[in-house]
Amino acid sequence: MNILMVCLGNICRSPLAEGIMRSKLGKEYFVDSAGTGSWHVGQAPDKRSIAVAKKYGIEISHLRARQFQVKDFDEFDYILAMDSSNYRDILSLARSEEDRMKVRLILHDQDVPDPYYGGEDGFELVYQLLDEAIDDFIENTLKK
Ligand code: 4NP
Repeated sequence: MNILMVCLGNICRSPLAEGIMRSKLGKEYFVDSAGTGSWHVGQAPDKRSIAVAKKYGIEISHLRARQFQVKDFDEFDYILAMDSSNYRDILSLARSEEDRMKVRLILHDQDVPDPYYGGEDGFELVYQLLDEAIDDFIENTLKK
């Protein structure tokens, strides 16, 4: 089972989501992340994402940003968007109903707020929202 977490830059929210998801699943799951945008390709996660992950015992400093690509629809079973803008951007690349069915908004009816221009508090909030949403995804979607 392959799961892809997607945000805009792939440096703040989705690498954190990738680290949290991986920490909760066994090796039979492949977890990755990507950004809809290309500005930060090749970069490590934002220092503030690395720090909040570390605070909870999760290492994400080795991750490197990449851009979402159409072939991700072939490689992943679930594509979890962080906000509604990411969700729309991913769906605009879908080629079929099968592609579209794979895409979910991680908080269902709410965005994971983009913490890039804010302070450290924003990253703590993102961590807490993701931690709970990922437990919910594992319990109610993955293991059903
Ligand atoms: P992310 O945060 O989508 O959670 O990685 C952002 C990072 C960079 C930018 C926007 C959001 N940016 O505009 O460069």
